[in-house]
Amino acid sequence: MYKLDQNETPLFDALMEYVNRETIPFHVPGHKKGIGMDEEFKNFIGINPFKIDVTVFKLVDSLHHPTGPIKKAQELAADAYGADATFFSIHGTSGAIQAMIMSVVKSGDKIIIPRNVHKSITAGIILSGAKPVYMQPELDKTVGIAHGVTPETVEETLKAHPDAKAVLIINPTYYGVATDIKKIADIVHSYDIPLIVDEAHGPHLGFNEKLPMSAIEAGADICAQSTHKIIGALTQCSLLQVCSKRVDTHRVKQQLNLLQTTSPSYILMASLDCARRQIALHGRELLDNTIELANYAREEINKIPGFHCFGREILDKPGAFALDPTKITITCRELGITGYDLDMILSNKYHIQMELSDLYNVLAVGSFGDTKESINALLNALREISGDYYGKGEAKSDFIDIPAIPRQELNPREAFNSDKVSLPLKQSIGEVSGEFLMAYPPGIPILCPGEVITKEIIEYVQRLKDTGLYVQGTEDPEVNYIKVVNL
Ligand SMILES: Cc1ncc(COP(=O)(O)O)c(C=O)c1O
Repeated sequence: MYKLDQNETPLFDALMEYVNRETIPFHVPGHKKGIGMDEEFKNFIGINPFKIDVTVFKLVDSLHHPTGPIKKAQELAADAYGADATFFSIHGTSGAIQAMIMSVVKSGDKIIIPRNVHKSITAGIILSGAKPVYMQPELDKTVGIAHGVTPETVEETLKAHPDAKAVLIINPTYYGVATDIKKIADIVHSYDIPLIVDEAHGPHLGFNEKLPMSAIEAGADICAQSTHKIIGALTQCSLLQVCSKRVDTHRVKQQLNLLQTTSPSYILMASLDCARRQIALHGRELLDNTIELANYAREEINKIPGFHCFGREILDKPGAFALDPTKITITCRELGITGYDLDMILSNKYHIQMELSDLYNVLAVGSFGDTKESINALLNALREISGDYYGKGEAKSDFIDIPAIPRQELNPREAFNSDKVSLPLKQSIGEVSGEFLMAYPPGIPILCPGEVITKEIIEYVQRLKDTGLYVQGTEDPEVNYIKVVNL
């Protein structure tokens, strides 16, 4: 099993030692153990967080040059996850992803990525100056979401771009759908380049066999995971895992040092240390319970008229190879209301806050924090909403197939740094876009900065608007104008 003693929490222990020594602080932060803090805030938060809100000194170590408890805490995380090396990110998975990309590609290098990436990936591409080659993910019209890219798509893209320096995939998607990552890892490695993985939604995968395979288990070379999203770390805390010789660990560390603050929060880092202990020692049973509750929710939701919640039956579709059952996607198309409407009703009337909503769905994230009571509260609310709306409105129509990926004239960094002018959308055909344009659903860009605007795209946007579907991304919220590069 583990090589190290996963009961240990070296960083948290060092902070406890600092607290127990009753040290007199002449260091930042200036609130000095909370004494100088605003009273109302302090009374609400309580005094303990301030006691461990410290800065870099020997006892508590340095994130940028760890030699003591932070080094040990990162080694314990690597041991728990089976990685060669683990780095703490207190800039979330966004920061970890930027460092991950900048570790494997340089300016002008090709990197193969899905079209529907999170904006941190675009940021990593702009920062690195790399040239993205896009793969279209598989679209599921019934639920109106994008699943993963298939191994076949990865293989074809690599055949067309054998000079690519890395391939990035998302494992699993926000909605918990995972592609065949093992097969993809094998294909990518046959070109002897790294597979890098946005595993924001998968920090728990390796700890329960009922979950999809983790990037590390599949043989990916490096992955970034939002520890704060599913398991017990505080918001902003993520892990960057390096698992192969194809990625230079020193370069990863350099990139993280370049991007991260020199004043990382020790409260956040201690929460990462303790969250790692929790998942390493108790992950399996905590996840068993989470999965059981989520499956109970799924079964009950599927009995409520107007709602549907997909389960393993979705796995016969392309790009959907495995499912993380802790993600509960509630589709309300048949109810005649949008996911956005449902989100608002749940929030305003029932004080239930969902993770996200789109035209057809709301997403509930399952985790160790769920209880039978909280799940039942959601089910009761959905039953009432069904009573209020079912049979009264029209089911929402299917989304419209998105146009082909347009030609890339400039790479995203060049487009980002260029002067731009705003043009009426209808007059922008043939210009180079300076902005994104996204179709919702399925939340995939139809235009990325640096791409040439086509007549097909303009007509598509008009059709979306006419059908009452959403198009977003431009500075102009109405999408009547678009910023184009002033060449
Ligand atoms: C797929 C994906 N990747 C990356 C991120 C960024 O993660 P973080 O919020 O930890 O920076 C998110 C955030 O929602 C995400 O959904």
